[in-house]
Amino acid sequence: MMISSTQAVPATSDVPRHVAIIMDGNGRWATRRRLPRTAGHAKGVQTVRRIVEACARRGVSYLTLFAFSSENWRRPADEVTLLMRLFVQALEREVDRLDEQGVRLRVVGDLDAFEPRLRELIRQTEARTAHNSLLTLTIAANYGGRWDILQATRAMLAANPQLAQSPESLTESQLDQYLSMAWAPEPDLFIRTGGEQRISNFMIWQLAYTELYFTDLYWPDFSAAQLDAAFQWYRTRERRFGRTSAQVEAQAAS
Ligand code: IPE
Ligand code: IPE
Ligand code: MG
Repeated sequence: MMISSTQAVPATSDVPRHVAIIMDGNGRWATRRRLPRTAGHAKGVQTVRRIVEACARRGVSYLTLFAFSSENWRRPADEVTLLMRLFVQALEREVDRLDEQGVRLRVVGDLDAFEPRLRELIRQTEARTAHNSLLTLTIAANYGGRWDILQATRAMLAANPQLAQSPESLTESQLDQYLSMAWAPEPDLFIRTGGEQRISNFMIWQLAYTELYFTDLYWPDFSAAQLDAAFQWYRTRERRFGRTSAQVEAQAAS
C-alpha cells in the first residue's frame, strides 16, 4: 500500500520514479497537415513507442499514459471506433517488444464499456508481461479521476459496510488502497503536450503534489529529447510537500 504524500514526505530523486502523461494534440497535429484527425492518432502511437523506450532507459519505474478519457466517448463515432482499433493493434503488435524490453503492461479504467475482444486482449497482454519489473507501463483507457474515486469508494464500502456507521474513522490511506493504481507511488512528474494547461480529469487524487509540466508541442512531435527537457526542469523544482524551504535544505544536508 502506498502512503499518500499528504501524510508522509516521500523520497525524491533526480529521475522521476513515476511519470504521468496526457498525450494531447494528435488531432491538431493532423489538421495542421490537412490530414484526417485519425492520422494524428496513428502517428501518436509511434511517439508512445519512443517514450516508453526512453523512460525504460532512463530508469523511470512507472509510466502512465492517458489514452482515452471517460469523456472522449463524446467524440464522433468514427473517431472513437478508430481509437479502439488502434488500441487493439498496438496491443497486438507491441506485446513482444514490451516483453523483450522488460516492460510490464497494465490497463486501468472502466473496461466494462469495451468490447469483449478488447477486454480479452488486455487481459492476455497483462498476463504475458506480468513477470516484468523494469518499467510498469499503465494505459489509462476509459479512465477518469472522478470515476476512480467513485469506484474506490464503492469498493471500499462494499468490503467494509461498517464504515457507513462510523464515517469519522475513515482515513485517506484506507481509500487509497481501492484506487485503480493503488500499487504505484503517486506521480512525481506530470507532462501534458498540446498546449492546454488543465488536468482533464486525469488522476485527480494522486496528482495532489505532482510537479506539472506543460509543453505546446503536439504529442506526435514529442521526442526523447523533449522528455529530457522535462526531466531537466523537474530537477530544478524544490518539492516541499507542505514544509518550508529551510526544512527541505536541512534534510538534504543531513
Ligand atoms: C489526444 O489528442 C488523444 C486523445 C484524446 C485520444 P486529441 O485527439 O485530443 O488532439 P487535439 O487536442 O484535438 O489536437
Ligand atoms: C485528455 O485530452 C484526454 C486524453 C489525452 C486521453 P482531451 O483532448 O480529451 O482533453 P480536453 O477535452 O481538451 O480537456
Ligand atoms: Mg485534445
